This record gives sequence, C-alpha cells and structure tokens, in this order.
Amino acid sequence: MSTAFADQVVWITGASSGIGEALARAFAVAGARVVLSARRETELQRVAATLAGGAEHHIVLPLDLTATDTFPAAVATVTARCGHIDLLINNGGLGQRGFAVDTPLEIDRRIMEVNYFGQVGLTKAVLPGMIARGAGRVVVISSVVGYVATPRRSAYAASKHALHGFFNALRAEVHATGVRVTLVCPGYVRTEISVHALDSTGGRHAKMDTTQANAMSADVFAARLLSQIAAGRDEIHIGGREVWAVRLQRWLPRLTARILRRAKFS
Ligand SMILES: NC(=O)c1ccc[n+]([C@@H]2O[C@H](COP(=O)([O-])OP(=O)(O)OC[C@H]3O[C@@H](n4cnc5c(N)ncnc54)[C@H](OP(=O)(O)O)[C@@H]3O)[C@@H](O)[C@H]2O)c1
Repeated sequence: MSTAFADQVVWITGASSGIGEALARAFAVAGARVVLSARRETELQRVAATLAGGAEHHIVLPLDLTATDTFPAAVATVTARCGHIDLLINNGGLGQRGFAVDTPLEIDRRIMEVNYFGQVGLTKAVLPGMIARGAGRVVVISSVVGYVATPRRSAYAASKHALHGFFNALRAEVHATGVRVTLVCPGYVRTEISVHALDSTGGRHAKMDTTQANAMSADVFAARLLSQIAAGRDEIHIGGREVWAVRLQRWLPRLTARILRRAKFS
C-alpha cells in the first residue's frame, strides 16, 4: 500500500461516482483525509461510508461546480476543518453526445461552466492558501479528448482543450512558489459518464456506451493515477490503446483526421 499520501488533505470534486469515487477510495487507503464534493449529497455519504479510516475521518461537502460564488465559503469550510489543502483533484465533469450543428449554444455553455469554469474557479479559490504555505498540488482531470477532438463531443473537447491552456500557463506561473500542477488525460474508463452525458436537447444520453462498458475499471485507473501523482508527474496519460491517439495525431495528423472522419463514435 502506498503511504505517499498519509495524513494529506485531498479534496476531490465529482466524488459521488465513477473516477472521483474510485479516487476517494484509493486516497483513503493511502492514508489521506478525503474531502468529497459533488451535487448529490446522498451519493457522497454512500461513498464516504466505504472509505478506509471510517466515514467520520473524511468530509462530505456538497458543491455545485456551476455555483462559483459558493467556492470561497467552501474553501473556508475545508480550511477550518482540515487546516489546509494538500491536493485539489479537479475531477467533476459532464460528458456530451450530440452533433455540433444540432446543439444549441446554451448546451455548449453548460458544459463549459462545469468542465472549465468550475475547475478554474475552484482552483483560483484554493490557490492563495497553497501559495501561502509554499506547497500543494492541483490535479486536473482532462481527457485524451483534450488533445484529440472526437465527433459528437465538440463542446466537451473544447472544454478539455481549454483546461490544457489554462493549467499549463498556471503551472509555469506558480512553479517558484512550490505549488505543482498535474494534468491527467484518461482514455476510456468504465464509469457512467455516457449515461450522465448531455445530448443536443440538454437531456441525458442515458446509455452505457459499449466503449465505456468495456473500458478499464475506475479502481485500476485510480491506482495507476495515485502512483503517478506520487512520482510528481506534470502530465499523465492512462488508458487503453486509445491514449496512443495523442501521439498519432502529433506524428501523423492527416491519418488521424481520416480515422476521425470515418470511425463511428457513439
Ligand atoms: N470515464 C471516462 O472514460 C473518462 C475519460 C476521460 C476523462 N474523464 C473525465 O473524468 C471525470 C469524471 O468523470 P466520470 O467518468 O467519473 O463520470 P461520472 O461517473 O459521470 O462522474 C461525474 C462526476 O461529476 C460530478 N458533476 C457533474 N456535474 C457537476 C456539477 N455541476 N457540480 C458538481 N459536480 C458535478 C457528478 O456528481 P453529481 O452529479 O453528484 O454532481 C459526478 O460525481 C470527468 O471530468 C470526465 O470528463 C472520464
């Protein structure tokens, strides 16, 4: 068992399901005190009840990533209860299944509010405390789609690409303060992201896509991610063969474009 995170305070957004839930379990096993955030409090309580160290050792803090005005108070609550924040895991996010031409701009904005402004806003609220201590790590869950934009996910791809721009700049800005930034690009992970994804009407896609159902488990993903965060990596890619798409696009952009035009994306 890793002890790299013993007694560290790790705040995870999107902790009510999928990758966030698996990360909460893995960090708790590694000795961390976990702050679990998402909108669904009952799901957060369910996850907290399963964590190593006992539910009372960890903190359930409901948070809507679109309610950026609530972030300062949330940071104050975590700081009051835990003293400081060692790791912020910006994981909460919303998938998309719909063609750009069918998708009203309102849906693009909703996805950007959660996936981009939510992560950026919470980071801005947490950062002053980390800089004052001269320590801390901001982890950002992007996607392979943050490099390779796949059909039916135009707003999702845009939100993940935008994270790369913001957090790569931030990494350079804060380096001298001792604060670190880690960008994570998962391939497919077996979660309910496709079930929760927005379609072009703003409703739920409500289907477990085959690629999702056959993907790496969230627990395997979380175990790999913890060891790579502990190694202090700036950027981490974890997944199946699809993570090679990042290199394929860089080395063979025309072939990649042809594949993206022809392949079927659910
Ligand atoms: N699964 C994959 O294949 C995959 C691949 C690449 C990247 N990712 C990224 O991994 C992250 C986690 O996704 P997942 O696969 O674990 O999907 P998931 O099971 O659908 O989890 C998404 C999480 O985000 C939270 N969330 C959604 N909207 C929110 C809002 N407005 N405010 C606060 N929390 C919100 C959800 O909680 P509530 O509904 O309770 O608020 C949930 O905990 C996302 O950033 C996703 O883009 C996933």
